[in-house]
Amino acid sequence: MKHTINSIPFSPPYIDDDIIAAVEETLRSGWITSGPKVKELEAKLAVYVGVEQVLCVNSGTNGLILALKWLGIGPGDEVIVPAYTYAATAIAVMQAGAKPILVDVQDDFCISMQEVEQAITSKTKAIIPVDFGGMPCQYTELYKLVNQPDIKNKFSPGHLFQEKLGRIAIIADAAHSIGASYQQNKTGSLADMSVFSFHAVKNITAAEGGAICLNLPSSINNYNTYKELKVYALNGQTKDAFTKQKGSAWQYDIQYAGIKANMPDICAAIAIAQLKKYEPILLPKRRALFKYYNQLLAQFDWAILPKAEDEKRQSSCHVYSLRIDGITEQQRNMLMEFLSNEGIHTNVHFIPLPMLTLFKEQGYQMADFPKSWELYQNEISLPIYPNLHEKQLSFIVKTLSRAYQKLMFNQALEQVKPNEQTSI
Ligand SMILES: Cc1ncc(COP(=O)(O)O)c(C=O)c1O
Repeated sequence: MKHTINSIPFSPPYIDDDIIAAVEETLRSGWITSGPKVKELEAKLAVYVGVEQVLCVNSGTNGLILALKWLGIGPGDEVIVPAYTYAATAIAVMQAGAKPILVDVQDDFCISMQEVEQAITSKTKAIIPVDFGGMPCQYTELYKLVNQPDIKNKFSPGHLFQEKLGRIAIIADAAHSIGASYQQNKTGSLADMSVFSFHAVKNITAAEGGAICLNLPSSINNYNTYKELKVYALNGQTKDAFTKQKGSAWQYDIQYAGIKANMPDICAAIAIAQLKKYEPILLPKRRALFKYYNQLLAQFDWAILPKAEDEKRQSSCHVYSLRIDGITEQQRNMLMEFLSNEGIHTNVHFIPLPMLTLFKEQGYQMADFPKSWELYQNEISLPIYPNLHEKQLSFIVKTLSRAYQKLMFNQALEQVKPNEQTSI
């Protein structure tokens, strides 16, 4: 798809001739569901992130559900998740039968260590830090916390694997952060289990898909875990269709009531073709655009700029989360509408979970998450993807600055109808 300077979508997938050829080759191969392409992607991802085993699945959400269920997390258990995330993080916990315990975040949108510590009880079985926008969370501090003697003593295992772990598990929601690193180590290798998303808008897409990267301590065998998860991701069936079609290998068993979460080969073919270009081309382009936004926006005192890196961390630059100092939620929405009318499509990452019906009904109140509210009300995610040109970035920044001036000097933002302000 071609975009003019005046028509800038928020996050189109990166599709080139090589990706189309890879899909065509798979379609013509006679095998389209889980098979050799999935195996190839799993092996390539394991090398890329630096872990022994990776299991590909059909979504990040299902990856999180599988990880939780495999750990034996279910009814009566608590899992700590940030209030500032996409709903899938908490819904996965609910689908596993456990209770998500929402906690507030810190200035970089990542889960607050202080809030995590306060939320731990004897029912806590896992923490799901979310690498927001592609920036890894504070993994050293998280591991220090779950290994603290008083916290380990509080831990009450309810399953063999929890017993083997002997502490609260860390399951990274790395939906945004493939390619990011923390102290030189890539995401995927930073937690006990890390889950990537390959949804259409992600840095690497498979159209839909995800992957569980296994980095469990030596008390738990990663290869056996991979094999068990693979069965679990196929309705509990011991052989996949690819294996069953070989010779007389048609017989199979169903070992437990798993879920249907296997990735098709067509999707794996897209992701393999993307992964090939990710480090040499696609990720550097994202990082360059992120830095260029910061360069262009640095002149405005109202612009609170996101970081692409700090002393320990390098982001995958999945989301460019700009914040506009001092504006209200209503004003932010007006700016977005102005941009949209100029052909620039933006987004908000995220609507904090306590603002959504499901979580309101569970008694969560936005007022209890002041940092999430502070970040949410003036956040605008600007377009960032490898096919954007620097000229388009300049246009976006100029248009935003024009909109801000009008807004602040009480000039009507043409075509803009104020949205209703959400009350907290
Ligand atoms: C932070 C976060 N977690 C989990 C998910 C779920 O990923 P998927 O759409 O692949 O199920 C997403 C997807 O947008 C996400 O942004």
